[in-house]
Amino acid sequence: MYKTLKEVTQVAEDLNMTIGAFNAHNLEMLPEMIRAAKEMGSPIIIQTSIDTAKYIGYPVVVAVVKTLANNEMVDVVLHLDHAKDFDEIKTAIDAGYSSVMFDGSALPFKKNIAKTKAVVQYAHAKGVSVEGEIGTIGGTEEGISVPLDEKMYTKPEDAAQFVKETGVDALAVAIGTNHGQFKSKTDVKIPLLKAIHEQVTIPLVVHGGTGVKEEDYPELINNGIRKFNVGTELLVSWTQEAIDSFGETEVNKSLRHNVIPANMKTKEIVRHKIGLFMNLNESMNIGRIKNE
Ligand code: 13P
Repeated sequence: MYKTLKEVTQVAEDLNMTIGAFNAHNLEMLPEMIRAAKEMGSPIIIQTSIDTAKYIGYPVVVAVVKTLANNEMVDVVLHLDHAKDFDEIKTAIDAGYSSVMFDGSALPFKKNIAKTKAVVQYAHAKGVSVEGEIGTIGGTEEGISVPLDEKMYTKPEDAAQFVKETGVDALAVAIGTNHGQFKSKTDVKIPLLKAIHEQVTIPLVVHGGTGVKEEDYPELINNGIRKFNVGTELLVSWTQEAIDSFGETEVNKSLRHNVIPANMKTKEIVRHKIGLFMNLNESMNIGRIKNE
């Protein structure tokens, strides 16, 4: 079924798990991403950048994701990642995206609040969820993280004020993660996440998931991360598989033969990540402790 971010993160909250939000770059990747979620028995968030949405066409992405969600009978959210422009957000919502991110993190705090609030009013009137962001999520060079300045991290008191004043459904937090980090791993600031989680009850979002150590997932989930973004790992491995297949191919061989291995690699990674995001060991432990 086609769902909103608010709906699937509520499920994640109830089950103490997180929902994988995977960046798609083309139509080819989509069916296997969604089948991976179906096979694992978890909802999935498919997210696109504005450029990918324009490349495929907003209404085409919506139609394909809705059709796959219905045919495969799995809960799927279609989310617009990192939009900084209200008009782009309107285009996505009007085309049928069920969730959007307004990224006002580069704006002064009060301006970020005002603009995010306006997006929330527009989106909520149409039943669409909104993710906001405060603080700065780091960047990378050649897949290796560039150290962040201390003042760029999300401040717990700012997070509380931002959520109260904007009414967002989920909040992206800057806790030491970096976009595009695939050659090294980051040290996430768990004590900072705990402090934010104490002040904020809405679902929290991790960006730059590729650079997060898998052994840190349980602590992130147990401290309120309900949407977990993974992009670069899929992109890099899809590209590598495609390079290998296309490199060996004959020019008159069906393109299928070169693209299927890349799509299957995507599926394998999505399945693996969802398996960890379901947080089964931790959830079972919590269930056991509660019952004792
Ligand atoms: P990575 O590409 O680093 O996994 O981050 C994805 C992301 O956060 C998209 O917003």
